[in-house]
Amino acid sequence: MSDEALQALSSLDALDSRALEAWRVEYLGRRGRLTRILRGIAEMPVETRREIGEAGNRVKALLEQRLSEKELEAKAGGVAVLDALDVTLPGRTLATGRLHPITQMVREICSAFEELGFQVVEGPEVEWDRYNFDLLNIPKDHPARDMWDTLWIDHVDENGERDMLLRTHTSPMQARVMEQTKPPVRVVVPGKCYRHEATDATHGWHFYQIEGLAVDEGISFANLKGTLYEFARRMFGHDRKVRFRCDFFPFVEPGVEMAIDCFACDGAGCRVCKQTGWLEILGAGMVHPNVLTNAGYDAERYTGFAFGMGVERIAMLRNGIDHIRHFYQNDMRFLTQF
Ligand code: PHE
Repeated sequence: MSDEALQALSSLDALDSRALEAWRVEYLGRRGRLTRILRGIAEMPVETRREIGEAGNRVKALLEQRLSEKELEAKAGGVAVLDALDVTLPGRTLATGRLHPITQMVREICSAFEELGFQVVEGPEVEWDRYNFDLLNIPKDHPARDMWDTLWIDHVDENGERDMLLRTHTSPMQARVMEQTKPPVRVVVPGKCYRHEATDATHGWHFYQIEGLAVDEGISFANLKGTLYEFARRMFGHDRKVRFRCDFFPFVEPGVEMAIDCFACDGAGCRVCKQTGWLEILGAGMVHPNVLTNAGYDAERYTGFAFGMGVERIAMLRNGIDHIRHFYQNDMRFLTQF
């Protein structure tokens, strides 16, 4: 009987819990075949009782062991017993990717300007000295170059002078766009920039900027203010005020820095604005006539404005992020919040 039982068991599918249960009832159940034999011992002659009883118990233990082995086999396969499959359970959600917070911010800023009539263009990160500096009214050996700590590429011109670098700002695209197109020009340029700079809470050796350039007949400082004011309201809320103060950039004249009244405290003074009530968000100005002339434009006829802003700075202000490094550590706990 034990051979027959074991053979029957081995032919069963370990996943078929009903069949396993039927087998258990047939041999080991209260009215099962083995149980009946063991019960019948009482009626047997005394001399044989002990021997048959022991043999019966060995068979019982063997059958129970094989049955539990069979059940383990099913679990080891990583599959629950068939009865346990609940088809009404909700499916498992797949982890989906998302855009990096800086990419999201670049897109948001660009679409604000697209709605104002600007076109988005991109340029090279490895740039010639000529575009990054010379054409932007920053001559070689001029102290104004100290405003940008530059990472140079090992490459020299025919005079043995370094002439290739990692762009320190997106402004070289002002020169490139004007070189390629006639006015009117209205572009924004998002892109990565590099500076040979120590990292602190608000500076890194690589970061994103968005440049803007509008050139046409009759463009005035009022157009600059109107455009950037509208941008500030779209990004930081409709009650924003803006403040323009003089600043110096060699490629604009006059040059300004633009600040908005702090959106966290409405200008009263708080931690976000370091108690000043104002947040500086970008540099701007009227395109310097030398830059227009360098690009082959008639500076008597055309005027324009340009601006440049740091994307990380805007993302940090908007989201209350306290250190620029969070953007570049690939920590999912940070990234999945955006
Ligand atoms: N390129 C400047 C910087 O990186 C910002 C700027 C752009 C200022 C355009 C004025 C006009 O500091």
